[in-house]
Amino acid sequence: MRREHVAFVLLVLVIAAIAMFLVRQRDNGQVIMAAARIVEPDTDSAIIGTGQRVYREICAECHGQQAEGTDRGPPFLHPIYRPDHHSDGAFFLAVRNGVRAHHWPFGDMPAQPNVSEVDVAAILAYVRALQRTNDIY
Ligand code: HEC
Repeated sequence: MRREHVAFVLLVLVIAAIAMFLVRQRDNGQVIMAAARIVEPDTDSAIIGTGQRVYREICAECHGQQAEGTDRGPPFLHPIYRPDHHSDGAFFLAVRNGVRAHHWPFGDMPAQPNVSEVDVAAILAYVRALQRTNDIY
């Protein structure tokens, strides 16, 4: 192979590597949202305040302190978790039975036997308020 050809092939490989790096960055950006932009809902209502507390104790470890997602679980501020795509029922089922990985590359969600249905109702009040405050729906 001539010298210019080798140089050309190397150049193409470098450009391809940069392009792949940029695409990965963009994908990560979609999964883990910028926490700085997230606005917390009003927690004056008792149920939203309780939901925020239980959410932070149990769910935040994977779904993020403000539902922005982590490297272990998806963000509830993503539009796929709007009520018209994941209804309230999906939250009760996820907590009771766990979730088989299907939307994301994080693996399965384990069932949460210590979280009661009353707790899930409070978590939902908080998560829905958080979604509305941040214009998810
Ligand atoms: C150990 C990590 C972990 C914890 C703790 C956790 N989750 Fe999850 N959760 C996940 C992962 C991972 C998924 C995504 C599965 C997929 O769709 O690929 C998920 C998905 C979900 C979904 C979507 C279900 C569906 O039908 O697609 C709901 C709702 C949910 N979690 C609620 C909760 C709530 C509420 C809590 C706290 C009580 C919680 N999770 C705690 C990891 C976790």
